[in-house]
Amino acid sequence: MEERNKTPRLFFFTIELAGTNHGMEETVVVTGGAGFIGSNFVLDWLGSTKTPILNLDKLTYAGNLRNLESASKDPRYKFVQGDIGDRELVANLLKSERPRAIVHFAAESHVDRSIHGPDDFVRTNVNGTFGLLEEARAYWLALDEDAKKRFRFLHVSTDEVYGSLGPNDPAFSETTGYAPNSPYSASKAASDHLVRAYFHTYSLPVVTTNCSNNYGPYQFPEKLIPLVILNAKRGTSLPVYGDGKNVRDWIYVGDHCTAVRTVLEKGSPGQTYNVGGRSEKTNIEVVEMICSLLDELSPSDLVIPHNKLITYVQDRPGHDRRYAIDSGKIERELGWKPKETFASGLRKTVEWYLAHQAWIEEVTSGSYRQWIAEHYSA
Ligand code: NAD
Ligand code: TYD
Repeated sequence: MEERNKTPRLFFFTIELAGTNHGMEETVVVTGGAGFIGSNFVLDWLGSTKTPILNLDKLTYAGNLRNLESASKDPRYKFVQGDIGDRELVANLLKSERPRAIVHFAAESHVDRSIHGPDDFVRTNVNGTFGLLEEARAYWLALDEDAKKRFRFLHVSTDEVYGSLGPNDPAFSETTGYAPNSPYSASKAASDHLVRAYFHTYSLPVVTTNCSNNYGPYQFPEKLIPLVILNAKRGTSLPVYGDGKNVRDWIYVGDHCTAVRTVLEKGSPGQTYNVGGRSEKTNIEVVEMICSLLDELSPSDLVIPHNKLITYVQDRPGHDRRYAIDSGKIERELGWKPKETFASGLRKTVEWYLAHQAWIEEVTSGSYRQWIAEHYSA
């Protein structure tokens, strides 16, 4: 409630800024740009393109403007705090910014949270995406023919929509049938279907990416990799669900950002592209690798070797056994390939967390919320 009440003030701030727009149909609007992947994307975008970028983010527990402190000094970057489900706000933003694309990251993203409270997942991932599509369609319809052709709605989705693989099944491809198993993946699957329908029914030029598990800087420490790094540093237990043999196909977040940019520039409307890092690992392998890296890089921690902290805990209900992505299509058709191996990306990630203790303290203590309240309240 409190966040919604703040929206109008920030909204007017944006309209004012729109007077200094950098060019018609130039700007790219991202949603959820203060989250893990979104903030990596915004930083990467500002570092590698000349195009302005506007970030629409509600700032839920997962959104952190601290990630974007360097971006906030860049005149090409704008931030608006707001909900993708706020149709009036979205309509006005599109009208004033006249973006050439919307890159849609905003979502509730954590499977465990979706098991305990699915409401927000349906509200944001399904209804929010629907509202955004409707406003994008209205905006797109009013563009001239050339701008209409250039416009893209890029929907960022997950491999979890395909369900769970057996040990010898082939990896998920773009033609694998949808079989989501958690409220999170079901809500993302629903949003993927809506996006697809807006192409087939209304010709809205959409593209969808379905990516595997990301890891890297700025990931909120409720997800496996940052959680294990933090707990291992602190000498608290490393919870491994079930037998630890569930498999995920890991991709370094920077490689995902490059894939999204590639699809934005070269992807064909109506197409979906699977994105993965060709790094299938069991959870226990991942946890052991993090422990070894920390033994090397942080040898004076409380508990050494760090793997003494591994604790098998009760399994997640409906826990998907294996995900694996076949990213052959984006590699062949668009020329994208991941740069990092799991070993190189994980080392970078552990080093980043070790070098950013203040960021960790903030996101775990909630003091970044206080910082946001101080900087963004009336
Ligand atoms: P995240 O949870 O770290 O960030 C989500 C961001 O969306 C936050 O900044 C949050 O404040 C914002 N947000 C949430 N609800 C909103 C709303 N109603 N209006 C506006 N903003 C809202 O998520 P992430 O891990 O960065 O994932 C980003 C996207 O990528 C999601 O769509 C997710 O499904 C997809 N994805 C994630 C992974 C992964 O491994 N993390 C893998 C594949 C796909
Ligand atoms: P997670 O990072 O939550 O991503 P997702 O569920 O979207 O794949 O979890 C990755 C894997 O790690 C998944 O198989 C669940 C497992 N896991 C644990 O074993 N312990 C934990 O504390 C967490 C958060 C996850």
